[in-house]
Amino acid sequence: MNALVVYDSVYGNTEQVARAVSDVLATRANTRLVRVTEAAGLDLAGIDLLVLGSPTHGWRPTPAMRELLDRLPEGSLRNLPAAAFDTRLRGIRVLTGSAARSLAKTVERMGARLALPPESFLVVRSQGPLAEGELTRATEWARALLERAAGPGLA
Ligand SMILES: Cc1cc2nc3c(=O)[nH]c(=O)nc-3n(C[C@H](O)[C@H](O)[C@H](O)COP(=O)(O)O)c2cc1C
Repeated sequence: MNALVVYDSVYGNTEQVARAVSDVLATRANTRLVRVTEAAGLDLAGIDLLVLGSPTHGWRPTPAMRELLDRLPEGSLRNLPAAAFDTRLRGIRVLTGSAARSLAKTVERMGARLALPPESFLVVRSQGPLAEGELTRATEWARALLERAAGPGLA
């Protein structure tokens, strides 16, 4: 199985989560971790699982992450197993927004199949750090993702 994790990060917190997720996926899949700024012209050929991670900015993913999806050729996500996570401030989601929910909706609309519901990992302040236990939770989320993506029906 080939997994691709694409993330954006301003202060490094989403990057930490992306690395934790990628490390778990790499136990059973050929896994590539790419920063969104290095993902122009992304080639999804041969990818079996796409994971997107973004900080929540103004309730949404970062502009770079949105542009990446906007630029993908029509149909390139069709039937592709995918998952999305974000980092965001603590607080109820209706107030903070969630980049992951927005990413998940977008990729589903583009034909991807969500392997897991979108997930948020919380930062204590805008610059971080991640709240206690969030990296462990990211590892658990990635394990569940691996089970789903490698299991029947998705891979
Ligand atoms: C321009 C900007 C807008 C933000 N908007 C939100 C927001 O709408 N909701 C939220 O929960 N956090 C918001 N934040 C906090 C970010 O989610 C937080 O900085 C991010 O999770 C840290 O991830 P990073 O270290 O990978 O950049 C915002 C931060 C910035 C810099």
